[in-house]
Amino acid sequence: MSTGKRFKIASIGAGNVGASVAQYCLEEELGDVVLTDIVEGLPQGKALDLTEAGPIRGYSSQCIGTNDYKDIEGCDVAVVTAGLPRKPGMTRLDLLEKNGRIVSGICENIKKYAPDATVIIVTNPLDVMVYLAQKKLGFPPERVIGMAGCLDSARMRSFVAMELGVSMKNVDTMVLGSHGDDMVPLPHYTTVSGIPITKLLPQEKIDAIVDRTRKGGGEIVALLKTGSAFYAPGASAVRMVQSIIRDEKQLLPCAAYLNGQYGLSDIYMGVPCVLGKDGVEQILELEISDADRTSLHQSAQEVRTGIDELKSIGIL
Ligand code: LAC
Repeated sequence: MSTGKRFKIASIGAGNVGASVAQYCLEEELGDVVLTDIVEGLPQGKALDLTEAGPIRGYSSQCIGTNDYKDIEGCDVAVVTAGLPRKPGMTRLDLLEKNGRIVSGICENIKKYAPDATVIIVTNPLDVMVYLAQKKLGFPPERVIGMAGCLDSARMRSFVAMELGVSMKNVDTMVLGSHGDDMVPLPHYTTVSGIPITKLLPQEKIDAIVDRTRKGGGEIVALLKTGSAFYAPGASAVRMVQSIIRDEKQLLPCAAYLNGQYGLSDIYMGVPCVLGKDGVEQILELEISDADRTSLHQSAQEVRTGIDELKSIGIL
């Protein structure tokens, strides 16, 4: 009989991403899931629906839906997806302000009910929201992590596989920087079964893959018209949850707090991280080209602008 600990995962925000997080956590049997939202009935309905899928999909972890933060008490990992997507006519500042207030309120509750949790932020604008969350939570920065690089690199892996007609499983890649058009996909660290893509694809094809990766979120928004991506974002967050809960020490690109790495300090940005039971257990500093370093610092500038905007409206 297993004497292993039964883990508890809070998925905060029961929209499409939050529900996908719950679904993948259940299917991987990572632990019991508490789906939380302020909208009455929404988390309860989705949690019951996911529970009823259990007999068919073969999982037996519990999933509950709630409007009461007390139910997240003692969770091991909290994934925060709550927030608004940008709608026509909304400025970036509107989104920053609205989501900044939502994330701040959620952090108060996580601090109160789950002070030992590791927190994964998914809400956009990602790099700014995770910085805000860490300041509001006051948790050690290694326990407050942003999900973006996993998603961006999964997109790049898919595009490389599609271009070469090979299995996505054989493609590995690394994407640094902020989660936006300024992100820094790294073709020099992209391989297919150990073979660098620079040996397999002409430069213009690589450039096109880099460009498509940068705009990957927008490509889905343009297709869906009424929302943004959720399967790949949910799967990416759950890959992080898995590495933390099972202490797998996976090396994944995540938004981590930088303290001098890559010449950047007091900022969250996408970098290669080793994720285990203590959250971000290592940050790897890769050798990168001058051009990539310049792009990384440009993307940091964007993030700092967002942080300054939050400060100017008194949220930070
Ligand atoms: C994306 C948004 C949701 O990249 O951040 O799909």
